Amino acid sequence: MTPTIPSTKLNNGVKMPVVGAGMYQVPPGDTSRQVAATALRQGYRHLDTAQAYRNEADVGQALRDSGLSREDVFVTTKLSPRNAGFATTRASLQESLRRLQTSYADLFLIHWPVQGLRTESWKAMEGALSEGYCRAIGVSNYTIRHLQELEETAEVLPAVNQVEFHPFLYQKDLLQYCQKKGIQLEAYAPLSRGEKINHPVIQRIAHETRHTPAQVMLRWALQHELVVIPKSVHEERLMENLRSVEFRLDSVQMQALDTLPENLRTCWDPTDAP
Ligand SMILES: NC(=O)c1ccc[n+]([C@@H]2O[C@H](COP(=O)([O-])OP(=O)(O)OC[C@H]3O[C@@H](n4cnc5c(N)ncnc54)[C@H](OP(=O)(O)O)[C@@H]3O)[C@@H](O)[C@H]2O)c1
Repeated sequence: MTPTIPSTKLNNGVKMPVVGAGMYQVPPGDTSRQVAATALRQGYRHLDTAQAYRNEADVGQALRDSGLSREDVFVTTKLSPRNAGFATTRASLQESLRRLQTSYADLFLIHWPVQGLRTESWKAMEGALSEGYCRAIGVSNYTIRHLQELEETAEVLPAVNQVEFHPFLYQKDLLQYCQKKGIQLEAYAPLSRGEKINHPVIQRIAHETRHTPAQVMLRWALQHELVVIPKSVHEERLMENLRSVEFRLDSVQMQALDTLPENLRTCWDPTDAP
């Protein structure tokens, strides 16, 4: 049976399913089309792509071929750092929409806080929001410092901040800051890209709960009220990851996972990004 995926309500009222399928490093073309199609068939209603992933067109095609109504699927795309700037942000969103075969994105994120251009990019995103080219706008790889800078000039606060987040990178201060500001934190690389899936504490809790290590890592982030977007090119893993909504970790298990932090970065580290 297909699990029912709950949604969270963003600060502008838009609903976002708490589990989505990540599309980074899914090869463009047939593989991306198949992964997105499989995910939609299994019950995913949230796909996370980006201009930089070169598979927006495949996501768009899978969405179209699925026969699902556009409004039933939440589609995120992201502004490539190379398109940062006012006019380029606007133009590149139109290109993304053309590739996605849709008139709007559910969420459009600044992929990286590009120095000197991020304020202009945000202005363009605010414009795109008011013109209806996206239903929500947000950022990615923003630290508290980047968010504070944005708040000084922004008319619209980000609905989402997508960052690396897993039990080996428990960004507690950023989580608390975003919660206080009404910004939904979204976990990328929620499986630590598989690097820590065999860690003994993860394995032990997987055994205790009769779930898998991947499900334990995803469940931990969900219970911290993050949205998660695990990536897999394998049908059975896509379903396994989706099923992380179906159980709960108890407070002792949560505590054990909360105290694992190693500050492990498997992707970009924006800490010192100027
Ligand atoms: N905003 C950003 O800067 C940013 C950066 C990175 C990622 N992201 C987004 O976040 C998504 C997820 O992050 P990610 O792809 O870097 O890492 P991830 O989801 O933490 O891990 C993906 C890796 O875990 C494996 N995996 C998936 N499910 C598994 C399971 N159930 N059991 C064991 N291994 C499993 C995958 O292998 P197989 O594919 O072979 O199954 C892949 O090697 C991306 O796809 C992208 O959409 C955003």
